[in-house]
Amino acid sequence: MERFGWECRTKVSFGEGCVKEHLASYIREFAPEGCNIMIGFGGGSVRKNGSYDDVMAVLGGMGYSAEPEADRRVIEFSGIMSNPTLAKMLEGAQLVRDNNVGLIIAIGGGSVMDCCKAVSVQARYEGDAWNDFWMEGRAMTHDIVPCGVVVTMPATGSEVNGCAVLTNEETKIKCDRDYPQMNPLFALMDPAYTLSMPIRQLRAGTFDILSHIMETYFSQPMYGNPADDVSEGLMRGLIRDFRAALRDPMDIRARSNIMWTASLAENRIIKTGKSKDFQAHNMEHQLSAYTGCNHGEGLAVLHPVYYRHIYKDGLPKFVQWARNVWGITDAQALRSEAYAEDGMSDDELLALAGIEALAGLISEAGLPVSLRELGFGEAKKALLPEIASSCFISGGAFRQMTADEILEIYEECW
Ligand code: NZQ
Ligand code: ZN
Repeated sequence: MERFGWECRTKVSFGEGCVKEHLASYIREFAPEGCNIMIGFGGGSVRKNGSYDDVMAVLGGMGYSAEPEADRRVIEFSGIMSNPTLAKMLEGAQLVRDNNVGLIIAIGGGSVMDCCKAVSVQARYEGDAWNDFWMEGRAMTHDIVPCGVVVTMPATGSEVNGCAVLTNEETKIKCDRDYPQMNPLFALMDPAYTLSMPIRQLRAGTFDILSHIMETYFSQPMYGNPADDVSEGLMRGLIRDFRAALRDPMDIRARSNIMWTASLAENRIIKTGKSKDFQAHNMEHQLSAYTGCNHGEGLAVLHPVYYRHIYKDGLPKFVQWARNVWGITDAQALRSEAYAEDGMSDDELLALAGIEALAGLISEAGLPVSLRELGFGEAKKALLPEIASSCFISGGAFRQMTADEILEIYEECW
């Protein structure tokens, strides 16, 4: 196991009605006296799933008002887009500065949470936070604006980690950074809010969760360790709940399980002692930086192809995954499968069968399986060499990619 430190300072309240029950006490704990509160949200889904009304009712009950003359004001930072941009983050930071904001409450999915977390960093920083923290990864030593979240879409796990992903549209770089200071102070997680998610977001978000677990699991150490034991259980449960939610999107048990699994996948517990891959994420982030594609859908296209490239480098782990997550144990029975080639070992067959099972789940869920299905046309295809050479290379993978191999993977995804 690698050496590690672990912390997750976020206080979580989970369950139906948790905003009405707990938000006021979090505000009393974290909102400085004499300051205003900013709520950040996206393009309007918060008004349909009840989260906006619930938050405003609590704020109103505590004397906060949107009236410009009010003693305690609520400032709205709206229109945070999917794949939030640096420009949007800077807009939010200016709002915080102009309005004496002492607490930010993000209401939404990963994009809203990430943008607000980054705003909390930039608003109290004299320099260029994008350059100093996202690009150069310098130590963060300044106090940031307190930030809490109300989750409406499970996917990224942003509610329980210090990660925020931003896109610089000018340089076409999408970059994530994780600082413990950016962990939200509190996360309110009401699964009922997620029921209004379009089925497309349910598919994409749930695949993103599975991807986070796989990206962590498929890295050193190769053999038995507690983090991977937890990951295997999470993957089995998530696949079960994904299928249940696709059968019946109103299955609140499955939706609740998916919501909490997103957090368990990203609160760093399964990363303890692991080198962590996340190369598929790096490849997806740059596809998104250039084309704006959906994060979870991009991952669904990339994962099976990427794994067919690296499975021999992490063979024991891929075999363990096929056995323990997909229940595939009989290598001989696989010899007649289309992917079986002469001379393949039993382990190679098992590993490939696991990857085929993953590809099968992606198809069964109705996720895109190619860049074309992801909306790429000839113009975007022409960008692939440039996109490939712009990807960050993971140091934690079983084998480090080169720009040439990333291009091969993109082309195989076509
Ligand atoms: O904008 P609104 O109207 O709110 O609609 C959103 C958005 O269109 C909608 N939505 C959210 N909750 C809903 C809902 N619609 C109906 N009912 C609800 N309850 O869903 C759409 C997608 O939301 P978004 O926040 O963009 O999705 P997601 O949570 O997948 O976040 C994606 C972003 O997070 C980054 C991704 O790269 C991408 O930028 N990531 C963040 C990570 C982190 N912080 O740890 C890690 C991830 O790997 C990822 O990179
Ligand atoms: Zn992700």
